[in-house]
Amino acid sequence: MSAPREQFGSRLGFILAAAGSAVGIGNMVGFPVAATKNGGGAFLLIYALFVVLVCLPVMLAEMASGRRSRKDPLGTYKTIAPGETHWMIAGWLSILTPFMIGVFYTVITVWIIGYLFSIIGGNLDVLADPASFGAFINDTDIFIYMAIVAAIVFLILQGGVKQGIEKAAKVLMPALFFMLIALVIFVLTLDNAFAGVEYYLIPDFSKINASVVSAALSQAFFSLSLGMGIMITYGSYLGRENPVPGSAKLVALTDTAVAFIAGLMVLPAVFSFNPNTNTADLSDSSIGMIFTFLPKIFLALQTTIGYTGASLVAAVFFLLVFFAAITSLVSIIEVPNAALMSETGLSRKKSLGVLGVLMGGCAIVAATSFGMFDWTTSFTSYAGATKSVFDIIVDVFYDTILPFNGLLICLFVIYRWKRHNFNEELESGDPDYKGSLFEKYVNFSVGTFIPVILFLVFINTVALKYFGASLIG
Ligand code: PHE
Repeated sequence: MSAPREQFGSRLGFILAAAGSAVGIGNMVGFPVAATKNGGGAFLLIYALFVVLVCLPVMLAEMASGRRSRKDPLGTYKTIAPGETHWMIAGWLSILTPFMIGVFYTVITVWIIGYLFSIIGGNLDVLADPASFGAFINDTDIFIYMAIVAAIVFLILQGGVKQGIEKAAKVLMPALFFMLIALVIFVLTLDNAFAGVEYYLIPDFSKINASVVSAALSQAFFSLSLGMGIMITYGSYLGRENPVPGSAKLVALTDTAVAFIAGLMVLPAVFSFNPNTNTADLSDSSIGMIFTFLPKIFLALQTTIGYTGASLVAAVFFLLVFFAAITSLVSIIEVPNAALMSETGLSRKKSLGVLGVLMGGCAIVAATSFGMFDWTTSFTSYAGATKSVFDIIVDVFYDTILPFNGLLICLFVIYRWKRHNFNEELESGDPDYKGSLFEKYVNFSVGTFIPVILFLVFINTVALKYFGASLIG
């Protein structure tokens, strides 16, 4: 007989772990910059609507199916639809996706810890030169940082669900909130800070067009860790006496609140540095923002709080982002890990060892694709652009397959697992859900327009990414 499935020790532990997954690099800079560039409060409104109307029901579909099957995503598809090849493919996709996104996320986390060490070592002034980022990511030191990140993730995951994932979330998440609030308070006291707040929040509906709407949905979907099998896996570790709908709402709320509050830290800092900042000056990518833009801003603080003070603020920021990244990385690696353990019967430690070699190998290859090796840097080209190994992973898994996996789980839950089973699972542990308006909404949306919306996002991404043509203008 196999051992009973591991479980989170408490509902709070589950919520913190799931929120730890959701709160990641995307929240800290991706969201604030996207909001500022795309209509401020208007973007926020659209984003919030997507979180509630689209993402929350998908999260429920993931958590409920996982809690019912008590398996990883592959096991979930296999248990609910035994021997059905097409659903097996969906199952494999939901293992491959977190594996590959885990690879790209590892690379970014490695850079973050590298910057953190470098700042602690007194090198903020060096990092403030935008050119140093290119040198940093091509330095072989990153492999040392990669070993450190791998060791931390291993240390957490080998402890299991309760003693590893839950325990880490219970320490890292409160620490993260505390640092975030401390930084927001500090930043808001800087000169011109409120110009940034204004830019961030004042709605400009003229900026809203089809591609902004689509970007808001993608951002919300990724930010809530959907389409990666994470919520299926974490749901499988939740006891049936715990409410799923109530917990999912809190996870979505926490994630959105952190993203929103992060904006109150990033934008005021940017505007205090340069009151005349134009939104076009803001970097388009989170990566550009974190590694080339923000260090410059932190360094500028030295005129008021000295070099050590400026380094301290920068270090707290990178530690905060690092904590956010680690809890996300842990959650994403747990997906293939849970599948590997259950498919092969390997112990947790051995399974992590195997994954460490496989994912570590891929992460090393991806990390060399920024100029270290020509072969991985100019790996191929499509839609008129040269693509590195890293670019391909981002394009294929992050941009394209994510909404597709979301679409599959919606169809699976409603049309294969069936509506009444889905409802019954969500009612277990949450009797108020039964017959509620929310239940009716979830039922209707997951079976109808949410899959349609996700399909449109998927098709548009394929057209845009691989054929250079936008269908929605
Ligand atoms: N929600 C995470 C973020 O915003 C996304 C993510 C989760 C990425 C888990 C990787 C692993 O950054």
